Amino acid sequence: MESLIQQFNIDVRAVQPILFTMLEHMHTGLQGPSHSMLMIPTFTDVPSKPVNGLYLALDFGGTNFRCLLLNIKHNEILDSWSDSRKIDPQIPTSKELMSVLGGFIQDFLHLHEKELTPRPDILYTGYTFSFPTEQTSLNSGTLVHWTKEFITKGCVGEDPVKQLQEELNKRNLDWVKIIAMCNDTVGTLCTRRLTDPSVEIGVILGTGSNASYREKISNIKKLDPKAIYSSDHMLINMEWGSFSGMPQNEFDKIIFEKTKEHSSQPFEKQISGRYLPMMAREALRKAILTGCVFNGLWGDGSTLSDEEKSPFSDIHREMWDEKHRLRGEEMEEIIWDESEKKEKVEEILRQLWCKSNPRLKLREGVTLQLSDLSLVQQLFKAILTRSARLSAIAVSAVVIHIVKGFIEEAKEKGRSETDYLAKHPKITAAIDGSLFTHNRGYKEEMARSVELCLDSVKGYCLTSSSSSSSSATPSSSTETSVSFSFPSIIPEVVLEATNDGSGIGAAVIVAANS
Ligand code: BGC
Repeated sequence: MESLIQQFNIDVRAVQPILFTMLEHMHTGLQGPSHSMLMIPTFTDVPSKPVNGLYLALDFGGTNFRCLLLNIKHNEILDSWSDSRKIDPQIPTSKELMSVLGGFIQDFLHLHEKELTPRPDILYTGYTFSFPTEQTSLNSGTLVHWTKEFITKGCVGEDPVKQLQEELNKRNLDWVKIIAMCNDTVGTLCTRRLTDPSVEIGVILGTGSNASYREKISNIKKLDPKAIYSSDHMLINMEWGSFSGMPQNEFDKIIFEKTKEHSSQPFEKQISGRYLPMMAREALRKAILTGCVFNGLWGDGSTLSDEEKSPFSDIHREMWDEKHRLRGEEMEEIIWDESEKKEKVEEILRQLWCKSNPRLKLREGVTLQLSDLSLVQQLFKAILTRSARLSAIAVSAVVIHIVKGFIEEAKEKGRSETDYLAKHPKITAAIDGSLFTHNRGYKEEMARSVELCLDSVKGYCLTSSSSSSSSATPSSSTETSVSFSFPSIIPEVVLEATNDGSGIGAAVIVAANS
């Protein structure tokens, strides 16, 4: 069991090559098409003027769709009305999906007729659409692929704003105008930035995961060089879920194989809430089948029969649906069961067994070995801790990228390398998502890991050799060595929980751009 748990251990002080790879992929993504993170230009910067007015925000990015009507004055939300409904990722067609979203918006507006009287000629609307969408302007783009196990046909390759606006028009809601589309990370960044100028990064750690940050427009080489923008910075939606450079273990590979779109979103599948319980279940399966836990011996000394093991055997591959699934809350309850007898761990494990095989009543009356329950708890904790550490490594890479930008800017202005610190003594990452905001200990583990990780790279110089073949003599290759210096001074990094940024953010972005 020790070696199983060890597979989830990451030493955040020894990850210089990972940081370097992530920085390289960020750089490549800013140049043009990328096989790793998409690094999507969002056509907006953070709000630079006070936000005022009445806005509709639509938030679609996972299990729920939300409508929010917001009355904002001088960056403060005076009134807000909101409602949400569950969305099934299995909705088969875009037509059906649009009809569900459109119908819900229509009902919501009807319910809030009073707040919308007199009816505005135009209700300025922001649409948070949190799936990898290559933007072509503030309110247009193309969905690259689904994530978070969505399968709806007729959306990939299409413009999500156009699809929803057409549905609204069909329902005589053409006065509801989608002015801006944004990703939830961008919404979170912008919302927090209204009250905290040190916010440079927006992160979501929930069902899915991703980050955005502020980039200098001159560094975004893939943008049309002739285009004119109102700011010299633009927010970049990284789509870091598709980063493939994190160390992977056997369970990551199993999850990649078993999930939809299995070749995409490797990093997201290692850390996010949609996948962690699957990972826990897979690791538990291995632990049982290899005899690391419940190895024959139950509380009463009897052995685990083949039938009792069977829910965890290979023939039971259907463990991803609702019925057989270990839920995120259950995983958390297992991890945090501090009772002497680990009753909650036992209760959930028994249920899980029965869910997988209803014929089986796991010998009621027989207690499971306390030592085994503790081992399962440790295993699940290791999986959650790894998620916090990997997220910390990714945030650290973004911080290093930003700091390098600050240093370059200082140098361009003829100032010393460290001068930027006076202007940026602190970098804040605004973070939303249930994994970060609800899981006890996650935030602390992540903050500790960011600190350790950044401390370990300060002033570090990484030299790696790479081979490139010469075109004149294709058979010969030359070894070149690449060296990369990490900044020697890094400002304080703060991770700040930010609730509801993804919804409110869409309204903030509409306001900032209208
Ligand atoms: C999506 C991102 C989103 C993240 C968090 C990922 O699956 O690709 O666009 O920001 O989930 O919701």
